[in-house]
Amino acid sequence: MGTKIIGTGSCLPKTVVTNDDLSRIMDTSDEWISSRTGIRERHLAKEETTASMSVEAAKRAMENAGVTADEIDLIIVGTVSADHVTPACACEVQAAVGADRAVAFDVNAACSGFMFALNIAHVYLQAGIYRTALILGAETLSKIMDWDDRSTCVLFGDGAGAAVVRAESISGLLSFDQGSDGTKGGVLACTNRTNNNPLVKTSRELEYVHMDGQEVYKFAVTAVPASLHKVIEAAGLTVEDIDYFALHQANIRIIQSVAKRLKVSEDKFPISLDHCGNISAASVPILLDEMNRKGMLKPGMKIALSGFGGGLTWASAVVEW
Ligand code: UT7
Repeated sequence: MGTKIIGTGSCLPKTVVTNDDLSRIMDTSDEWISSRTGIRERHLAKEETTASMSVEAAKRAMENAGVTADEIDLIIVGTVSADHVTPACACEVQAAVGADRAVAFDVNAACSGFMFALNIAHVYLQAGIYRTALILGAETLSKIMDWDDRSTCVLFGDGAGAAVVRAESISGLLSFDQGSDGTKGGVLACTNRTNNNPLVKTSRELEYVHMDGQEVYKFAVTAVPASLHKVIEAAGLTVEDIDYFALHQANIRIIQSVAKRLKVSEDKFPISLDHCGNISAASVPILLDEMNRKGMLKPGMKIALSGFGGGLTWASAVVEW
């Protein structure tokens, strides 16, 4: 029994903000952003919310998979920017698509969120507990950015990506790996929660995303190749057998470094960060949906997926399309 990805969908906000647009509101330039990161523009939410983009991405994935709401057993959303503390974004998706039978919850694993959701769904499916799952990565990062910190706010964007996975008698997810290192949590953090307990008189200022970019960079260029080697070997494959590497879209230089370390042509690393920026948990599923809709994915192809980021966390998988 395999865990097969049978449909994908995505949704980006309508408003596109270019590097030049940003240079009009802060001290930055298209030259700095594009040469350091590969990002040219990103979509930022105005009327859209994490839930509204998730619902749209979910509907597109269900349509792409040919699956109806009553077939869905499980909904998991990877997100660090759900619209509310509760209800979970996954519960909002459940209500909007009418998946009445589904169990729904969110996972917080930052940029690895979609990959953690995929791996959790895989384990449920392989245990025979559920048959069909809707998994998403969705973020409205613009609302938790520090817009006075040009070294982080220019990197991120908003959006949602979804996939329908199903327990099938043909092979699908061949292997997975995931990990966390909580000792390095401060390297990429967002602590903007207030304490409303009257016994605890804190008047802490709200803190938004702050990141030690160079530490995250160093972590990514070692953790990602190691995790990819692990899943490729566990799948009984070699690096040469992989048709595409769909990585978290943080920075073109990280992707180039991973390609170099794996000794694989950069052509096997599709990119969406140029027009999306870094959308944390949504990066991998949006990229996968773009590849799917462009007709790049053929049955039997082997795709290596990898997410990495805050926590710190990382997760990879090899799937047969
Ligand atoms: O999802 C995972 C999340 N994060 C990542 O993957 C991030 C990984 N890290 C990176 O991608 C890079 O570290 C960055 C792109 C974030 C930064 O690149 P860097 O080469 O490490 O730059 P830096 O932070 O060392 O800054 C270099 C200079 C500084 O000026 P001085 O001190 O040399 O005069 C910064 O003040 O660039 C300046 N700078 C900017 N200049 C124009 C920082 N941000 C900007 C900006 N525009 N937006």
